[in-house]
Amino acid sequence: MLQQLALLGGTPIRTRPFTAWPVFGKPEEKRLLRTLRSGKWGRLNGLEVAEFEQRFATMHGCNHGIAVVNGTVSLRIALMAAGLPAHAEVIVPPYTFFSTASAVIEANMIPVFADIDLNTFNLDPKAVQAAITPRTRAIIPVHFAGQPADMRALMAIAKKHRLLVIEDAAHAHGASHRNRPAGSLGHVASFSFQSSKNLTSGEGGIITTNDDKLAAACRSIHNCGRIPTGVWYEHHVLSGNYRLGEFQGAVLNAQLDRLEQQTRTRDRNGQYLAARISKLPGVYPQQRPRDCTRHSYHLFMLRIVPWEFGAARAALLKALQAEGIPCAAGYGWPLHQQPMFRHKAFGPYLPEISKELNYRKVHCPNSELICREQSVWLEQSIFLGTRADMDDIANAFEKVYENRDSLNASLKHSAKP
Ligand SMILES: Cc1ncc(COP(=O)(O)O)c(C=O)c1O
Repeated sequence: MLQQLALLGGTPIRTRPFTAWPVFGKPEEKRLLRTLRSGKWGRLNGLEVAEFEQRFATMHGCNHGIAVVNGTVSLRIALMAAGLPAHAEVIVPPYTFFSTASAVIEANMIPVFADIDLNTFNLDPKAVQAAITPRTRAIIPVHFAGQPADMRALMAIAKKHRLLVIEDAAHAHGASHRNRPAGSLGHVASFSFQSSKNLTSGEGGIITTNDDKLAAACRSIHNCGRIPTGVWYEHHVLSGNYRLGEFQGAVLNAQLDRLEQQTRTRDRNGQYLAARISKLPGVYPQQRPRDCTRHSYHLFMLRIVPWEFGAARAALLKALQAEGIPCAAGYGWPLHQQPMFRHKAFGPYLPEISKELNYRKVHCPNSELICREQSVWLEQSIFLGTRADMDDIANAFEKVYENRDSLNASLKHSAKP
């Protein structure tokens, strides 16, 4: 016999909360108090950020780490450090957070959108190849949801056309591609430590690289254009103060001790859930290529194909939420359809060149389709739980599928005037 949906008055599958985020405890308290009492609260006289930079970079396969105030300026600094010319074209996916593209404009360059692959939700190398022009200078692949992009193909394209590759690894702490850590796969990478991220200090970011010259340029730009051999009031390049503070460094050091274990747990749970729910018609979890040797599951992402599943995404989300499963649709639009791009509301940036740009003509059908009707997101902290938690989620999907007719009927009824 069918169990009635919680949305229609039945008993919810889940009433207990899932793992709360952030996870913290005594180690964070200890480091924070020590920092407070030291009186050394700034990057340049304390020890926490310096220690964190070194540990994080090493864990992510890099010689250099430059901690900054967030994962947006880190992208801009990387672009500026590379010495790319004004109005260079930078290829980005449209299915990502705003910063991947806004950072390009704030570096006085032009974002060019290339579509994602419908199965992996990552940049499609064929679309990247098609977007290359004589003005292209860089690619910013996003390791979306925590699954590394197709770096083998993208690095081959970059090599052929002499392009810089900046990994946007804001979702990918601890992820790996062919057993190499995200953050060491391109020429330079950017991570975020904003509140929702798998490693967090509320706000923060880091640039990682194995390129000594790029690292020196990033370090200078994050510190008002200073250089190691200069004096305090000596500034060599246009830059700013983007240094991360010691309290955030203290929290990050404590959080970093937890990252390896947490990443293993998320990856195990994510794979288990994907295997269970992919048996349902019309449910397509992010496809995992063999090259992805570890997924950090910042998000567990899937596509629902409404005509195969038998219910629309909005109905599925409503029904799952009533069953006690926190889930969301994600981005409402791909970036090229955001008001900022439609209206070229770029403030003082790109004043002349932007007359030539028309983002209303951009068409990236995969990104548009998943935003409009298919994407479903579950957040990373859920995946720090147990296998029983995953079973609750999978059981809720199955319950909604089995009850799709009554779900549709009830929504049709409630939609009547
Ligand atoms: C893919 C991606 N890139 C960049 C960022 C920017 O990071 P931050 O919020 O730290 O500026 C985010 C953050 O949400 C993101 O998801």
